[in-house]
Amino acid sequence: MKQLAPALGAAALLMAATAPVAAETPSAADAAMLAGGCMSCHGPQGASPGAMPSIAGRPEQELATLLLAFRAGEIPGTTVMTRLMKGFAPEEIAALARYYAALPARSTP
Ligand code: HEC
Repeated sequence: MKQLAPALGAAALLMAATAPVAAETPSAADAAMLAGGCMSCHGPQGASPGAMPSIAGRPEQELATLLLAFRAGEIPGTTVMTRLMKGFAPEEIAALARYYAALPARSTP
């Protein structure tokens, strides 16, 4: 009988962990966090070092259209962006476009 209590505790924990999370429009802080994953390729502020396209300071609508087109597989010959965007919800893509459009455009040295 001593074994029963811990087992019940674990089951309760499991149920709490799988409770549904409400889907919401990401806040500005969430967008900054989502954008963290873009830095390694597009540069810390979206101004890419090297051959990667810079994405900062471009019109929000243009960025959103590009990202959604990647997600839909409508842009041929991509290396990573199609695969990457499939992991984002449309609301998250909209938040990312807003985030990068608001950053200053900078040319890389
Ligand atoms: C592993 C590297 C990598 C990461 C991470 C990455 N990108 Fe890209 N991105 C690319 C490459 C390479 C291209 C050119 C298209 C292609 O080959 O997929 C590109 C293209 C783009 C374009 C189109 C630019 C243009 O002028 O055509 C946008 C917008 C963009 N990325 C946004 C993002 C955002 C937002 C994130 C983060 C959620 C992100 N990228 C993360 C490598 C990356």
